[in-house]
Amino acid sequence: MVNPDVRPWVEAFAPATVSNLGPGFDCLGLALRERGDTVRARKGEAPGVTILRIEGDGGRLPLDAELNTASVAVRHLLDRFAPKASIELELLKGLPLGSGLGSSGASAAAAVVAADSALQLGLPSEVLVEAARHAEGVACGTPHPDNVAPAIVGGVVLIPSLDPLRLVSLPAPEGLWVTVYTPGCEVKTADARAVLPAAVSVSDCVGQAARLGMLVHALHLGDMQMLGEAVVDTVAEPHRARLIPGYIDAKAAACEAGALCCSISGAGPTTFALAEDEHRAKALLEILEEQYTHAGVPGSGLVDRVGPGARVTSKPLH
Ligand code: HSE
Repeated sequence: MVNPDVRPWVEAFAPATVSNLGPGFDCLGLALRERGDTVRARKGEAPGVTILRIEGDGGRLPLDAELNTASVAVRHLLDRFAPKASIELELLKGLPLGSGLGSSGASAAAAVVAADSALQLGLPSEVLVEAARHAEGVACGTPHPDNVAPAIVGGVVLIPSLDPLRLVSLPAPEGLWVTVYTPGCEVKTADARAVLPAAVSVSDCVGQAARLGMLVHALHLGDMQMLGEAVVDTVAEPHRARLIPGYIDAKAAACEAGALCCSISGAGPTTFALAEDEHRAKALLEILEEQYTHAGVPGSGLVDRVGPGARVTSKPLH
């Protein structure tokens, strides 16, 4: 029996993320600051990856290491970089499941950062993102990177290529505020992907590409009006809007009230709006609250800013 004192826990936090950001379906996302998931990792005794405990999920997430995004991500990492290592995990869910705030991705991101540190591997972000996105494949059927990349790297991240994986960090304007509201309904990412069309028209492709280019340009200029104009999604949003009761009216009301833009966060149902100052961001939160309450799906939200990526929050190991 190994003395537990020589197997210290390493704790890591990974933030909530808003992915897609309008035209960046599956290739663009940003990290928020306030909320996220926490994962603790330590060297284990049994071979492989074991989940000892999950808190904050209402008993809904699997402890089976083959099925949980945190353990699947760590398993992927160990297979490549430490095949003989053993890791034990504990998860503290801070994010609601099926919300569009990158909940499964945050667990995977925090888990790989904690395991990397517990084993003192010092792996680069690309490797951690690769492992975490592999786990997203288990959660929703597609290993999309646009939640785990910002969850790990922080800020606004574009993923222009998967093979090889490329991560491009984009500047976020200083004064940018993000209002997020999660209505009281759940949308599984797999279901939100199932409603997408199998093919997209050339004009939609051209429009999305043009707006994605404008969005990147706006971020570099720090031009918030242009940023707002760029956050328009004609590919996923029209099909997903009907999965979120009250979304169309909520978006219209937020835009009317001066949001730079309003769209679906990831696969939804969380709705995000961008604003140029905190006062406006709080007003938008009230409007989204009113609208979703009126639609019969009251939920909760917050105003937040773009924040850093996953990090170790426990004392460093020596
Ligand atoms: N890009 C993914 C989607 C994000 O929209 O399906 C899921 O969180």
